[in-house]
Amino acid sequence: MSADTSIMHTSEPAQSVVLEARNVVKTYGHVTALDGVDFELRAGEILAVVGDNGAGKSTLIKTLTGAVRPTSGEILLDGLPIHFKGPLDARHAGIETVYQDLAMAPALDIASNVFLGRELRAPGLMGSLFRRLDKKRMREEARQAMNELKFRLPAIDNAVESLSGGQRQGVAVARAALFARRLVIMDEPTAALGVRETGQVLELIRSIRDRGLPVVLISHNMPNVFDIADRIHIMRLGRRAAVVTPKTHSMNDVVAIMTGAATA
Ligand SMILES: Nc1ncnc2c1ncn2[C@@H]1O[C@H](COP(=O)(O)OP(=O)(O)OP(=O)(O)O)[C@@H](O)[C@H]1O
Ligand SMILES: [Mg+2]
Repeated sequence: MSADTSIMHTSEPAQSVVLEARNVVKTYGHVTALDGVDFELRAGEILAVVGDNGAGKSTLIKTLTGAVRPTSGEILLDGLPIHFKGPLDARHAGIETVYQDLAMAPALDIASNVFLGRELRAPGLMGSLFRRLDKKRMREEARQAMNELKFRLPAIDNAVESLSGGQRQGVAVARAALFARRLVIMDEPTAALGVRETGQVLELIRSIRDRGLPVVLISHNMPNVFDIADRIHIMRLGRRAAVVTPKTHSMNDVVAIMTGAATA
């Protein structure tokens, strides 16, 4: 655990740390995107990551998922140092990431999108030799995932291009929920969504947490953050300025820390 966890609830029992960054630096030429950032995701929590444009949020997430190699510093999963060579390594370690652009195949149906890149093959020779897909099982499992997450969608064999923005976000979040074994990371999953759709995606995030997977949520939307986060990691100028909770700090407090007008 990093030293500054003492600023958090010292009276509560220590929860185990699932994903951690220690003193991570990332430079691009003379630009310092991360300037010695610490990060800590605990078991069972929704951790929001907030900060002004350019504060280093996306770069931090990318170093955690192997999309970007840190210039220096350490990343640990379940207490062990990790060196992901790319996002696929993170996936294999049980970390699912919902990217802002969603990476979907619009012409394919919902079930096919849920299983995009990890399609289930038909049993026996048809699957192993002829690479035939087990569409029925994919539909069943996709439907079950949506049901478990209480996410209402049109028929599972509808093409994704026929879905609204919120429904597509729902498919992306459900996909992450279905495959994640350790944790889920989401970069602005409710950006550009309406109130009702945002509510549905927030519900999905809660149900992922309630199934026991911790969630990292990058968001610019303060009311959403205060609605859903257990703790709030505040980035400023490539560093962690503070970690606060919606119980101990107001939205104004958080904005003041983000902009440097106040410290925690
Ligand atoms: N590939 C890159 N090459 C050069 N500079 C980069 C690169 N990626 C990020 N940066 C710089 O690093 C800093 C942090 O960027 P980052 O994208 O992490 O910020 P952010 O907090 O996600 O911002 P936003 O809220 O706008 O998404 C910025 O100054 C940015 O210009
Ligand atoms: Mg960003």
